Amino acid sequence: MEIRRLDAPFGVEILGVDLSRAPDAETVAAINAAFVDNVVAVFRDQHFPVPDDFLAAARMLGEPMPPVTATYRLPGYEVIEELVNSATDRRTGETAPLMRGGSWHTDHSNLARPPKATTLHAIDLPPSGGGNTEFISMVMAYEALDAATKETLRGRRAFQAYLSRRAPRKLLTRTEAEREGSEGTWQPMVRRHPETGRDALYLNPMRCDAVEGMGEAEGDALLDALYAHCDNPAFRYSHIWRPGDMLIWDNRAALHQATPVRVAAERRYMHRIMLRGEVPAMAD
Ligand SMILES: [Fe+2]
Repeated sequence: MEIRRLDAPFGVEILGVDLSRAPDAETVAAINAAFVDNVVAVFRDQHFPVPDDFLAAARMLGEPMPPVTATYRLPGYEVIEELVNSATDRRTGETAPLMRGGSWHTDHSNLARPPKATTLHAIDLPPSGGGNTEFISMVMAYEALDAATKETLRGRRAFQAYLSRRAPRKLLTRTEAEREGSEGTWQPMVRRHPETGRDALYLNPMRCDAVEGMGEAEGDALLDALYAHCDNPAFRYSHIWRPGDMLIWDNRAALHQATPVRVAAERRYMHRIMLRGEVPAMAD
């Protein structure tokens, strides 16, 4: 196995490992360390004959958890989702061009225990590669803040709703049962990573609705300034997909987004699994 830094401010690619066969404990520990230290890890050349093989590969790094909405579940699986740019909504039967995750966010931060990580496996990539998946290191973004802003954020929380009044796009309508536990929660604005001990901004332009101790105008201005600060090439990696890529990122330390497919008529098909996380810890 070889772990190489990406040609980017952060992230690694991992070569020479076949995740369809369970790696030994030492290899798993090295993989987990590379993933949490570098925020994003790309496993090259992964081929999973059946979805259970992808599930087993994801389990190597944590406990898979179901998404809030069941709409895109792979039939027969609670925790594997299909990610396809042209999908039939199983609830309404409508088929529409679809791009999920098309603006900066971190997955399911409206939950009291958000997923620590998300993994995608590219199954069918069109000749153009489809779109990219982009990341911001929220560790780097936090470290680059000025001292006064860090002080403003110290000990402060933001309310993360299922869908913020400020969100740039809409999300799926939830059933009554899916609403339970997913309406939103107060989260630390700076989060301490339980494995690396590093602090990261924990924000979400799709979900952050209010800043603790601030009125709406003041809170919105702070969030806008922070989002503008984060959206900087110095903290960004844009992943160009290759066949066989399995990507995993740390939701505790990154924002991510999908970019539009390069050729609208092309179909891209992936599987997604989220890994259960802990209650976010406030930084000191
Ligand atoms: Fe996402």
